[in-house]
Amino acid sequence: MGKESIYKIARLIAASKKLVAFSGAGISTESGIPDFRGPGGIWTRYDPDDFTYQKFIQDAEARKKHWNLLLGSEFIKPDVSPNPAHYALAELERMGKLDCLITQNVDGLHEMAGSSKDKVIHLHGTMERAKCLSCGNLYPIEELRAWLSQGVEDPRCPKCGGLLKPDAVLFGESMPVWETREAQRRSQNCDLFVVVGSSLVVYPAALMPRYALESGAKLIVVNQLPTDLDEKADILIHGKAGEVLPQVVEVLKQAGV
Ligand code: APR
Repeated sequence: MGKESIYKIARLIAASKKLVAFSGAGISTESGIPDFRGPGGIWTRYDPDDFTYQKFIQDAEARKKHWNLLLGSEFIKPDVSPNPAHYALAELERMGKLDCLITQNVDGLHEMAGSSKDKVIHLHGTMERAKCLSCGNLYPIEELRAWLSQGVEDPRCPKCGGLLKPDAVLFGESMPVWETREAQRRSQNCDLFVVVGSSLVVYPAALMPRYALESGAKLIVVNQLPTDLDEKADILIHGKAGEVLPQVVEVLKQAGV
């Protein structure tokens, strides 16, 4: 991608007083985690209608499918690690240039790369733990991996026997209230909104860049495939986040930002 676009992004970030970053599955593909709608993505190989919240709570077979996909070898592997795009966003935070990072991802790679927990807003929950749908007890996902590898197919809460569910938001499940409201507030109060690796087709998450635009913020889109907001972007790069973001951070560092 053109060096000029990298410099333009760096100039907008340098001038920004309130930058909100917004990430989707595309920021994690260079860590080996498939996205959902890109080439070879999860929803090009599985039917999303089989992975709804309703099916999860009603059907033991559907729960088995969920656990196999979510903890199998195709999605978030146990040894997955951040890539240069995650580290670049953590660096922007260290440079004092990040108001917050709104993520749709459940892989925990932003925090693993050094983004502060209080800066990351998880709109779609997290795969780092499972939650009992009856008593609310939480269990580290490593425990669930262990039980499933020992042949457990429909994990139940050891405390109350209730259904255990990954703490990631499923289709048809209600969104986390505080995170959704806070993401909207931050999107409406930023002066620069940077989309990284999202198709922007899942709502209400995809409202966030639109809130930012309505509030007069400038928009940067870094995404491999086109999105519905491409023509509204002040700067658009169809490229790999792991290549673009580190170059932007490098320019900012050389400029002494
Ligand atoms: N760099 C930049 N963009 C990338 C890269 C990369 N290395 N790899 C993939 N992309 C782009 C793809 O071209 C695609 O447009 O990232 C986008 C990812 O889009 P989706 O797969 O739809 O992921 P996302 O937008 O996060 O999906 C939102 O849908 O299934 C639900 O809950 C799930 O949070 C997810 C939500």
